[in-house]
Amino acid sequence: MKEQLTSILEKTLTDIKAAETFEALDAIRVNVLGKKGELTAILKQMGKLDAEMRPVIGALANEVRQSLETALEEAKAVMDEKETAAKLAREALDVTMPGTIPVLGKKHPVSIVLDEICDIFTGIGFTIADGPEVELDYYNFEALNIPQGHPARDEQDTFYVSDNIVLRTQTSPMQIRTMENKKPPIRILAPGRVFRSDALDATHSPVFHQIEGLVVAKGITMGDLKGTLELFAKRLYGEDTKVRFRPHHFPFTEPSAEMDVQCFKCGGKGCSLCKGEGYIEILGCGMVHPKVLEVCGVDPEEYTGFAFGMGLERLVMRKYKIDDIRLLSENDVRFLNQF
Ligand code: DAH
Repeated sequence: MKEQLTSILEKTLTDIKAAETFEALDAIRVNVLGKKGELTAILKQMGKLDAEMRPVIGALANEVRQSLETALEEAKAVMDEKETAAKLAREALDVTMPGTIPVLGKKHPVSIVLDEICDIFTGIGFTIADGPEVELDYYNFEALNIPQGHPARDEQDTFYVSDNIVLRTQTSPMQIRTMENKKPPIRILAPGRVFRSDALDATHSPVFHQIEGLVVAKGITMGDLKGTLELFAKRLYGEDTKVRFRPHHFPFTEPSAEMDVQCFKCGGKGCSLCKGEGYIEILGCGMVHPKVLEVCGVDPEEYTGFAFGMGLERLVMRKYKIDDIRLLSENDVRFLNQF
């Protein structure tokens, strides 16, 4: 029995040394010291021993149990320590490491110029209006005095969604929507996307932006139109910018005009940018046609107004000397980072 005890002690101590997990240690404890363990089994046989041997073996058995318990405790403590160290190493954070600098986005050139124009007009009392890109034929054409069969419809190659629904070809429908919803005095600026079934090339895109303006009140004259748009041109291009108005035709204004600014490349002498003209056209405008006021329920005897519309991409291209409109929608960051 003595030998059995010593052998259990030695074998178990070796097992404890070799154990690598808490589970392994626990299994050893159960196998040896548990109710059905090897040591317990030996203790159960103590009754068969001589009276004088009993205390000797009893004492030895106790010693063995104590040694094993201590060895198990120690092994567990070592394992605990190792695990804590490993955990700390895993979670170590080097606060001196340099961070990654996020790439900052930039405003798109179209947005830069749009914001600038909105600032100019809100600065003189205009509010910004927004409307649908998918539009009823009524608002895009009919109410703007462009009935079925009118030649102006052919000039604006239209994407039809159905017989009476189109992708708006201009922002002018916002004139109608505004007057239907609000009594004069009206002073709005309506920027937005418009669509035309044009092939994509350096100067044409099927999707582009227009900015529409509308002023309706009592006593509005062509003088207000000219003063407002001249002030706009000077704010956008500089105080000594010269403008001129040329008669033109739009179905929804009468009289109608186009406004040109003196070429800022040649100063009016004529060059490749202005094609020898000395002036560059930047917008269409006119006094709101009485028929248009009428369909919106605004009495043309009481109120008058002026309207204007301009293509945003062309302004952007001129401002930044961009010669291909496609660059504005390709979103190549090498291009966009230059603004
Ligand atoms: N909607 C016209 C176009 O797309 C531009 C325009 C001209 C708008 C004259 C106006 C205006 O408001 O008065 O060609």
